[in-house]
Amino acid sequence: MKKDADNFLRSIISACGDAELSGIRAKSERITSEFVGDKVYFRGVIEFSNTCEKDCFYCGIRKSNHRLSRYLMSKEEIVRQAMWAFDNGYGSVVLQGGEVKDRDFIGFVVNLLSEIKKKSVKKDPKGKGLALVVSVGEQKKKTYEEFFQAGAHRYLLRIETSDPKLYSKIHPRNRSFRKRVKCLEALKEIGFQVGSGVMIGLPSQTIEDLVNDVLFFKERDIDMIGMGPYVVHKDTPLGKIYGGEWNSKKNEIFQLSLNMIAACRIFLKDVNIASTTALQAMNPAGRELGLMYGANVIMPIITPKEYRSRYLLYDNKPCIDEDALQCMTCLTRRVNSTGKEVALYEWGDPVHFSRRQAKTPK
Ligand code: 5AD
Repeated sequence: MKKDADNFLRSIISACGDAELSGIRAKSERITSEFVGDKVYFRGVIEFSNTCEKDCFYCGIRKSNHRLSRYLMSKEEIVRQAMWAFDNGYGSVVLQGGEVKDRDFIGFVVNLLSEIKKKSVKKDPKGKGLALVVSVGEQKKKTYEEFFQAGAHRYLLRIETSDPKLYSKIHPRNRSFRKRVKCLEALKEIGFQVGSGVMIGLPSQTIEDLVNDVLFFKERDIDMIGMGPYVVHKDTPLGKIYGGEWNSKKNEIFQLSLNMIAACRIFLKDVNIASTTALQAMNPAGRELGLMYGANVIMPIITPKEYRSRYLLYDNKPCIDEDALQCMTCLTRRVNSTGKEVALYEWGDPVHFSRRQAKTPK
């Protein structure tokens, strides 16, 4: 069985040439339509803090990047952005920030969640308010529980790569792959809709690694996938040693990223898949192409303009001179250019999650 799945995934991920690529696109489109529908869901991302305790070799906001001034948006600013999203028909918002574990920070996030939930429920004729998504890295199970109780019901934590050896190459020695997996398990036990993902185009990453990434999502019953190409950030250790080679492989990495979306859609079927910003950093039509390969979620950035240039995880990040409204208009146009429609005023929970719930013994 594993061998069949391996071969099947390998053929999708390594597809090339017009005929093969249009073949996987068509198949992926059919499955998207059948299992999750043709609509595209917006998640407004508020990058509310760029302070990070971690030192990932690839990431522009890593702790050791001293060229960066750190910020934490105020509660009022964050709530205002979230309510802007609500007023504009977004079903959900993502509170994304660097990883910080101290009590003050956790308390701040918990407080924010309750406030946004309360305000949006009050304004919503259906009484549901915004679906709240959190993404602040590895935390204690107890902390995740607090987020859940405060009203969050989705959490995003990428595994980055499912290969422990490659994982240790791109992270400092004190980082543990197992611990990250444990966090994903804890989130699932609590009842979160769990999002994960990987970077594509990492040094020495093989097609087999990418096949195993998709199998990892399957084994772990991941509900939402957010993957994208690795993109160099010049002020990081990985960017410095791998930048030249990466540059010569850019086209290949971009296509692999699209093929990975198709592989996830075709193999996992009912998960939500985001067409990520990093795709657009490599190709102006990157996010539209992501939708054409099977993604059904877009995450417009709704961080206020004054903070955007300080949340650069990689070089060439798009949309840093735009505000939330411009991003919304632009992304709606991009979605429509693929023949799809944005679903407004809907949470857009992953179909996979309801199936998984129905399967779990009570
Ligand atoms: N290129 C692409 N993605 C990156 N991320 C961080 N740095 C980079 C980079 N240089 C991704 C990681 C992380 C997410 C928040 O952003 O996958 O989990």
